[in-house]
Amino acid sequence: MKVLSVASECAPIIKTGGLADVVGALPAALRSQNVEMRVLLPGYPKVMDRVGRAPAVARFDDLFGGPAELIAADVGGVPLLVLRADHLFDRGHGIYLDESGQDWEDNPQRFAALSRAAALIARDGAGDWRPDIVHGHDWQAGFVPYYLHRMEVGVPSVMTIHNVAFPGPAAPEMLGELKLELDDYHPGGLEFWGRISALKAGLVWSDKITTVSPTYAQELQTETFGMGFDGLVRARAADLQGILNGIDTDVWNPATDPEIATYKTAASKKKATRALREEFGLPDSDGPLAVVVSRLTEQKGLDLVLEGLPDFLARGGQMVLLGSGQGDLERAWEVAGARHEGLAVRIGYDEGLSHRMMAGGHAVLVPSRFEPCGLTQLYGLRYGTIPVVARTGGLADTVIDANDAGLRAGVATGIVHDPGSAEAVARALSRLADLYADRDVWAKMTRNAMRHPVGWDVSAAAYADLYRSLITA
Ligand code: ADP
Ligand code: GLC
Repeated sequence: MKVLSVASECAPIIKTGGLADVVGALPAALRSQNVEMRVLLPGYPKVMDRVGRAPAVARFDDLFGGPAELIAADVGGVPLLVLRADHLFDRGHGIYLDESGQDWEDNPQRFAALSRAAALIARDGAGDWRPDIVHGHDWQAGFVPYYLHRMEVGVPSVMTIHNVAFPGPAAPEMLGELKLELDDYHPGGLEFWGRISALKAGLVWSDKITTVSPTYAQELQTETFGMGFDGLVRARAADLQGILNGIDTDVWNPATDPEIATYKTAASKKKATRALREEFGLPDSDGPLAVVVSRLTEQKGLDLVLEGLPDFLARGGQMVLLGSGQGDLERAWEVAGARHEGLAVRIGYDEGLSHRMMAGGHAVLVPSRFEPCGLTQLYGLRYGTIPVVARTGGLADTVIDANDAGLRAGVATGIVHDPGSAEAVARALSRLADLYADRDVWAKMTRNAMRHPVGWDVSAAAYADLYRSLITA
């Protein structure tokens, strides 16, 4: 079975968040399920640098204002179809944002072009490769199911919601330019609060919808988490499935990780902790070293940590944060870092450092207000770095709280707290200090964590079953 995966980012080539990790991991994960997946990816400069001068397998004379071609290449072990369209993708700065930090004005056209190319590949093939299913990710691939439907291609589609907070808006005046029919612009179709929404197009016209955890699949149907899409998601609940993300257990492997003093058991973590304290200039301490690796946005709830921080540090706890994003949050953490000796802050994005932090930390904090799945708590489990997480989305599905029942049954892998509350985070930090002080309990939890399955096996089988159900339907 052949599946075309359509996405705006793909690790290890181009990444701004967890979407890239998942898109990059799926082809390898699905291979053992006899699914041959290729990723259709925009030809940003970083992608073109890796692809080189490979010949085109298909050409489009005019794709949203200029010529385009498709290049088939394997990059970093991922089978790609790269959409080279220089008028849309050959530019510096961010893949979504311009030099002033605003969305590129032509983002609707850029990703409509990606989606249009996917529908054309489904109809005409790319060279001798033609997919049986098209699988789109987030709003950037939202128009795929719509175009497939309007072009009467007859290839089924799956739409995955990684984050419903991004509707992929466009002004209604752009209907014609985006090759959308006026007839389809209504609340049951393309319209979302007075604008066009690419994500909505995907959710209305796809055959199946998935999201990245079972709990988020439930939350999406509520007003609090649905962000305006809850009614539509409820209406399509029969076609909705929550399939948990996995992580690449080769890239995140404490026994082979080139970034760290490697270890197979939690007991040998000490070296990595010492190295991390040294790297950040932190003194030795008897308390736990908590780490944060995150985008700094409202979603991630890291502002909520600052309130309980002084008490945690006073008890001998330490904290290291690596992140970037909103200016106000970056500044708040920098100020806190300058004020507190036990807190070290690094504003930026650094893949290698994120590995060293996961390895050296005793705990990883993920206090998100909402979290469709979350990957860093999974890295934490794998590295015996106890996740301290909010009870929401995929965080709730992957961490077992060290409450009385969890401890008595010997199954606890982390600390779970109420979402959206600074007080709850402060209490969780205090529990962290207590649990860490009890060496037997702590050793048991880290062993549990490291044994918790975080790979792709189960979820790859779930995607394969879903694809098969569409072909045999
Ligand atoms: P989201 O996609 O919402 O940002 P996830 O937890 O799914 O959240 O994925 C985030 C990914 O980005 C993880 O692989 C994480 O390690 C990585 N990441 C986030 N911020 C940084 C950073 N500052 N430096 C290095 N890696 C980061
Ligand atoms: C989104 C979500 C995150 C999820 C990732 C990959 O970025 O915010 O929770 O893990 O997509 O699915």
